Amino acid sequence: MDTPSHGSLRRAFYPCCADDIEEPRRLLAGLVEEIIYCDIQRPRGYRHSKPTDGLPSVTFVQKNLNDYVDSMPLIHVFFYRRDSPGEGGSGLYILGKEWLPRILRHFPDEGGLIVTDGSNRGSGVFRKMIRPSGYLRKTWGCQFWPSREQPWLNTHRLHRIEMKRVVSPRS
Ligand SMILES: C[S@@+](CC[C@H](N)C(=O)[O-])C[C@H]1O[C@@H](n2cnc3c(N)ncnc32)[C@H](O)[C@@H]1O
Repeated sequence: MDTPSHGSLRRAFYPCCADDIEEPRRLLAGLVEEIIYCDIQRPRGYRHSKPTDGLPSVTFVQKNLNDYVDSMPLIHVFFYRRDSPGEGGSGLYILGKEWLPRILRHFPDEGGLIVTDGSNRGSGVFRKMIRPSGYLRKTWGCQFWPSREQPWLNTHRLHRIEMKRVVSPRS
C-alpha cells in the first residue's frame, strides 16, 4: 500500500543532527533537493558543500528546535536518528505525542516520509507506526505504515515510514 510516487519530494528536515551532515545527504539523494538541519550547536568541521555535487543542499538552522519547529517551511521527509534522553542527547521526545504532530504539520496534504531509528520515541506511537498493519492516529489526522521497501533497515537501522493525511489538522 505504498503511495504511488514520491517524485515530488523536495525537502527534508533533520532536528538535533549534531555533526551528522554528510551521510543523510547520501541516504536521501534523489528523494529531496534540500535538507534543513537544526541544532543548537553548529556541526563541527562542516564546510559548506558545493550545490553541484548531486546531493541535497544543506541548510543549517542554529536554533533551539522549540523556536523553529512551528515556523519551518513545507517538508516532505522527516529524518531523525541517534538521539537520546540521557547525557549528550537532546532529551526531547521527538517521536512522541507532543513533538511529532508539530513536525508533521509541515508535511504537504498528500503526506510524506519519516526516516528514523526510533530514538527518543517517548511513547508507543513509533512502535505502532512500524507494525505491518500500520497505524491510524485519528487525533492527528494521520495514517502511518512501513514502506514496502526498507533500503536502510539492515544497513543503518533506519525505518522508512509512509505518512498520509486522512483529515487535515489545519482545518
Ligand atoms: C545525541 S546528539 C544527536 C546525534 C545525531 N542525531 C547523530 O546521529 O549523530 C543530540 C543533539 O541534540 C542537540 N540539541 C539538544 N537540545 C536541542 C534543542 N532544544 N534544539 C535543537 N537541538 C538540540 C544537541 O546540541 C546535540 O547535538
